[in-house]
Amino acid sequence: MERMASPLSILVCILLILLAKPPTSDVAARSKVSFVDNFNIMWSEAHFKTSEDGQIWYLSLDKETGCGFQTKQRYRFGWFSMKLKLVGGDSAGVVTAYYMCSENGAGPERDELDFEFLGNRSGQPYLIQTNVYKNGTGAREMRHMLWFDPTADFHSYSILWNNHQIVFFVDKVPIRVYKNNGEANNFFPNGKPMYLFSSIWNADDWATRGGLEKTDWARAPFVSTYTDFSFDGCEWEDPFPACVSTTTGNWWDQYGAWHLSGDQKMDYAWVQRNLVIYDYCKDNQRFPTLPWECSLSPWD
Ligand SMILES: *[C@@H]1O[C@H](CO)[C@@H](O)[C@H](O)[C@H]1NC(C)=O
Ligand SMILES: *[C@@H]1O[C@H](CO)[C@@H](O)[C@H](O)[C@H]1NC(C)=O
Repeated sequence: MERMASPLSILVCILLILLAKPPTSDVAARSKVSFVDNFNIMWSEAHFKTSEDGQIWYLSLDKETGCGFQTKQRYRFGWFSMKLKLVGGDSAGVVTAYYMCSENGAGPERDELDFEFLGNRSGQPYLIQTNVYKNGTGAREMRHMLWFDPTADFHSYSILWNNHQIVFFVDKVPIRVYKNNGEANNFFPNGKPMYLFSSIWNADDWATRGGLEKTDWARAPFVSTYTDFSFDGCEWEDPFPACVSTTTGNWWDQYGAWHLSGDQKMDYAWVQRNLVIYDYCKDNQRFPTLPWECSLSPWD
């Protein structure tokens, strides 16, 4: 039997829909994203495959080479998210990276935001390393343990980027907050639009136990799997897209996105207590004077 919806319940529904979906500009919001529409393969087409429906992408690494892809567009500010399932089993020496960068290569003036997954010997957990570069200078690593096995299932890895903060999320849990001070500085990348990239390669000179654990090629190919890329951000157009200049026209630029929400702070506190393996801001041996941004509070 059908019931007539009351005007009140219709109103509530409309409100819920409005609240559930952050307002977006028309350049932004995409949901299901096809690989060919949004990405180019950077090297080694032969090491790239997609599922029949194009929704799952596979990158493989063998003794010859790894593989990588990048977005066709650049973005400045927004929300960028992808689900990844990492190489399982013994993956020592293998690095899967998922990152944003203002250049195609390792240029001396690049800005960059990194997620890197460092493989490990069987039975030992993956570590996730994040890093931030501004104008070619990085050395801002943090390393975290994960609270799940990233090789068993897809999990989402996301970046929120605006002029106030850069937040690295794993499944909606903020694992790292990188703040701006609102002034001209040489640590917060905010001036250059970035592509989004992902790649898999052999890094057994450093990745696992500082390079002691070598890649076991008998187990190749190593395959990382991707799905559900989504972004809600400002797509770059030269000389300057409108979405960058109207700085609070989009949810990722608005007050609510300038700092963690109450719930996010609780999650972040839990991560800080339990999962941080390395934080460059605590490494006084490496930095007798800590980098300036280390004095900015992630709680503000
Ligand atoms: C960026 O780095 C280059 C050197 O790599 C330097 O010449 C330039 O002044 C830097 N730009 C800014 C804005 O700091
Ligand atoms: C590999 O796992 C061991 C044991 O949990 C851990 O101490 C080590 O830091 C891990 N290394 C990497 C590169 O993930």
